Amino acid sequence: MTDFKDKIDLNKLPQHIAIIMDGNGRWAKKRGKLRIFGHESGVKAVRETTEAAAELGVKFITLFAFSTENWDRPKFEIDALMQLLVNTISKETKTLNDNNIKLVAIGDLKSLPKDCYQNLNKSIENTAKNTRMTLVLALSYSSKWEIMEAVKRIAKKVKEEQILPENITQKDFSDYLPTSILGIPDPELLIRTSGEYRISNFLLWQIAYAELYFTPTLWPDFRKENLYEAIFNYQTRERRFGKTSEQIKQNSNEQI
Ligand code: IPE
Ligand code: IPE
Ligand code: MG
Repeated sequence: MTDFKDKIDLNKLPQHIAIIMDGNGRWAKKRGKLRIFGHESGVKAVRETTEAAAELGVKFITLFAFSTENWDRPKFEIDALMQLLVNTISKETKTLNDNNIKLVAIGDLKSLPKDCYQNLNKSIENTAKNTRMTLVLALSYSSKWEIMEAVKRIAKKVKEEQILPENITQKDFSDYLPTSILGIPDPELLIRTSGEYRISNFLLWQIAYAELYFTPTLWPDFRKENLYEAIFNYQTRERRFGKTSEQIKQNSNEQI
């Protein structure tokens, strides 16, 4: 097996990696188990990925844990997932502190069950001073929802005559998104597991120029080495931002 960790250029790490953790249900089904067994098994992948990212020096990692659309799943699965969240967040807070990792969350958090919301807030408060890395949980999250929230707040400002519509900039808009409010830069790398090639309403504004990486690995099987491989793959790409390849090469030569 190739050791991708040794191939990673630590000076060119993405600052922020976002992950759509998908495939828990299929992982369980393959083993003749209930879907929730897949979710439970996914916790180990969360731990490994978070640890690997922190060890490398990645500054932000965002994990898509529950979407607004996931509320349409069977009640049994939602209840079990929320319980798993409550338990995991409480149990992992100490590890987060031991590793100097700050927890934050984005999404319609008030729609979470009360115990889940309270536990989450407790863990967020308890880890607020940590500085090594920020772990962002996207919970009851959908990008269109957060964009609409931002639109409504800007519309209110316009109505109150605090801002002129023609003066609204891209920066003004993104300043109303929770990612900016929390000081989270746009992800340079977006990973989706389980072989699905879609974004599923995740960080639509923020991934405008992210590199996309899709892997057939199901989330419960995702380990440190899978993260290293994704980062290595990201580092082989030329990010042009609309410019020509020649311009990019010239710029990097000038920097040397
Ligand atoms: C991802 O795994 C976890 C959540 C969406 C909560 P899934 O539960 O979507 O698993 P698959 O995609 O059905 O295999
Ligand atoms: C996306 O996975 C949401 C999370 C990973 C939490 P889904 O399994 O819900 O996405 P779709 O339905 O396959 O697009
Ligand atoms: Mg899925």
